[in-house]
Amino acid sequence: MLFRIESYEKKIFELITLSSKELNYPAYIVGGYVRDRLISRQSKDLDIVCLGSGIKLAQQLASYLRPIPRVTVYSRFGTAMLKHKDLEIEFVGARKESYRSDSRKPIVENGTLEDDQNRRDFTINALAVSLNDKDYGSIIDPFNGLMDLEKKIIRTPLDPEKTFSDDPLRMLRAIRFATQLDFKIHPKTFEAIGKYRNRINIVSKERIITELNKIILSRKPSIGFKLLFDSGLLENIFPELQKLYGVEIRDGIGHKDNFYHTIEVLDNVAANSSDLWLRWAAIMHDIAKPPTKRFVVDHGWTFHGHEALGASMVPRIFKRLKLPLDHKMKFVQKLVRLHLRPISLTKEDITDSAIRRLLFDAGDDIEALMTLCKADITSKNEKKVKRYLKNYELVQKKLIEVEEKDHLRNWQPPVSGEEIMNTFGLSPCRKVGDIKNAIREAILDGYIPNDKDAALSFMHDKAKELGII
Ligand code: CTP
Repeated sequence: MLFRIESYEKKIFELITLSSKELNYPAYIVGGYVRDRLISRQSKDLDIVCLGSGIKLAQQLASYLRPIPRVTVYSRFGTAMLKHKDLEIEFVGARKESYRSDSRKPIVENGTLEDDQNRRDFTINALAVSLNDKDYGSIIDPFNGLMDLEKKIIRTPLDPEKTFSDDPLRMLRAIRFATQLDFKIHPKTFEAIGKYRNRINIVSKERIITELNKIILSRKPSIGFKLLFDSGLLENIFPELQKLYGVEIRDGIGHKDNFYHTIEVLDNVAANSSDLWLRWAAIMHDIAKPPTKRFVVDHGWTFHGHEALGASMVPRIFKRLKLPLDHKMKFVQKLVRLHLRPISLTKEDITDSAIRRLLFDAGDDIEALMTLCKADITSKNEKKVKRYLKNYELVQKKLIEVEEKDHLRNWQPPVSGEEIMNTFGLSPCRKVGDIKNAIREAILDGYIPNDKDAALSFMHDKAKELGII
């Protein structure tokens, strides 16, 4: 079968052919680019394999391009890369790889195109397109990758046990591709993931999190999390999430399965936001349900304090998974801590004071919090869903009204600690903090208006009360 070369590809492919002829290194397009183009998916990473030196081929091609691009050489790996228009083109000599049991790092030797295709992870990633005169544009498909693309199947080209024990990251890649492309993993391939899941321990945390984040950024991440769970890999890489699985029944009363609930919330967030960290907040929002679970007679199951404990678990989990510990972690932590607050506002008559407090605590993340809360509604009872959503609309309306009036979203109390110290001739001490907090609380409670004069007058009253003046 011939690969349909599009007009925007013609020129660059022909120049690669010309370069490869010049050097007498037959060249092929391989891997993800071929796969993605065949299923009409955007791809900007073009991988070229040649029978010879990839570095020399890259340099040769660069000399034909205008402007002449910079060639980045990775001599340790024998590869080179250059950028042309919006393509990133990587060049490597065909290789044969063998692996030791204790490492992902292969022993590499020069090889044929067939050797190179044999060492690849999945049949759909082992397709090659010839750029050589004798069969220009033909697809070389030794493992029926075309058929698997059509049938939407992820399958290893060799015995899956060999492919996975050679490079265990591929177990996660299988699940990642299944999620991104909405493909099924072939039963034998899937079975081998279960069998070899402990080998994931030799893979670096950075590589694991890259794959996990790609699953999370997919259109429907629950596909990946179900596969991670069913294969057992979830227990290896994210045991806290695994622990959410299961339903306990006592006195005929059960609770919902928090694992399936969580991944449904994640899908709901994914339908409304492509923000990776908001998606992480969905994953983490109920993470402390297992350690806070209690059964109260005549009442049922409770998870009191799971939002606070969950927030305190976030840094530890992020650190272990090698996720960032900066403002992104703080954002996730904040959303986990606050995720029940909007619900509590729908239950009672909403007071301005409660709304002000939420605006103050959530700051600029209030919209993200509301997106998470709406996604948290996973009831199957349509009437209930409608009612909850309506309540949230009311909360949102109220949030807008109060914000317009009081401007509490990035609010700083109108009197600073320094001003308090200067007014009363105090040096830094606890009383300064007490006065400052009292002013903030008085404004949030609506006891005094949010303006400077009211705050100054309140400051004097408070100072009297504390015996400062
Ligand atoms: N590959 C492999 N085993 C791995 C990683 C990569 O066999 N652990 C091979 C596959 O043939 C893959 C190619 O190297 O197609 C390029 O890898 P990479 O750029 O990581 O993945 P892509 O398939 O291009 O997909 P994506 O860009 O979505 O990561």
